Amino acid sequence: MLDKVKSLISEIKDTSAKTNEEIEQFRLKFIGRNNIINDLFGEFKSVPADQKRELGPALNQLKVLAAAKLKELSASLNSKDVSSADVDVTLPGIHAMEGSIHPISQTRSRIIEIFERQGFNVEDGPEIDNDWNNFTALNFPENHPAREMQDTYFIEKDPDILLRTHTSNVQTRLMKAKKPPIRSIMPGRVYRNEAISARAHCFFHQVEGLVVGENISFKDLKNTLYHFSKEMFGKDTKIRLRPSYFPFTEPSAEIDISCFICGGSGCKICKQTGWVEIAGSGMVDPNVLENCGIDSTKYSGFAFGMGIERVTMLKYQLDDLRLFSENDIRFLKQF
Ligand code: PHE
Repeated sequence: MLDKVKSLISEIKDTSAKTNEEIEQFRLKFIGRNNIINDLFGEFKSVPADQKRELGPALNQLKVLAAAKLKELSASLNSKDVSSADVDVTLPGIHAMEGSIHPISQTRSRIIEIFERQGFNVEDGPEIDNDWNNFTALNFPENHPAREMQDTYFIEKDPDILLRTHTSNVQTRLMKAKKPPIRSIMPGRVYRNEAISARAHCFFHQVEGLVVGENISFKDLKNTLYHFSKEMFGKDTKIRLRPSYFPFTEPSAEIDISCFICGGSGCKICKQTGWVEIAGSGMVDPNVLENCGIDSTKYSGFAFGMGIERVTMLKYQLDDLRLFSENDIRFLKQF
């Protein structure tokens, strides 16, 4: 029996296969259900004890060898398959398309990060709201043009339900719900009934901010936005405040930053002025505080608002707002 085992061992060692059928034959003989090695193990039981010492290890070796050979045969045949088939194995692989974060989301995250480090928390509110939260509480006079149909998408009349025109509706809700101190930003989508062009869209995104507390002054507003501008556009950025008007702030100011492309000497982006506008701002009008149940003799506050599209366009020097909502992969994959 030992001779038989030895001859099978050398048979296995010498085996090679050129086809899958040959491999299958090998498998049936040595590994399959009624394989020859199992038969030998069966016979092994009745072998005299003195022969078992030598025969046992040899049988085990046979079994291990058969399994290893089967692996080796199929591996070598498969690799031959690849090289012989009509496949050019030197071609680069096909990569799965990877998504990327939309530029608007990237800018929003960056803005949030900068304000969070200044102690602001993020507040959210509905895109559909009533006239009071979007306009009346914010001191918009009854006949203010922003309320008219050309600016606002009304959903229902009496009581007026509309698509918010700014995220200031979240400021109203916040002041009604919480007592000062308040130090929050509100990012979100807003809607205005505008003709779609390179410069305007019927929806866009804003981040507004609100700080209400004791002894909050214009100096705090200026410092907060100065710090933001340096973080967002570079440490040499300067800011400039221009008097402006918003119904809900008094005094109000438009915030410009020194042009980070030309450094202030004048270029296409800043239209040769050296400055670009990034935000509206002002001290919260006492009427607004009172409308929301906050004592305007004790508390003061400042607010600001900026367009995320605008900040993104400045940062990447884009000149068409529509690119953000067209889902053109050639545009999006650059970010
Ligand atoms: N709500 C203003 C807008 O949408 C932006 C703003 C917010 C201005 C806060 C001043 C203060 O244009």
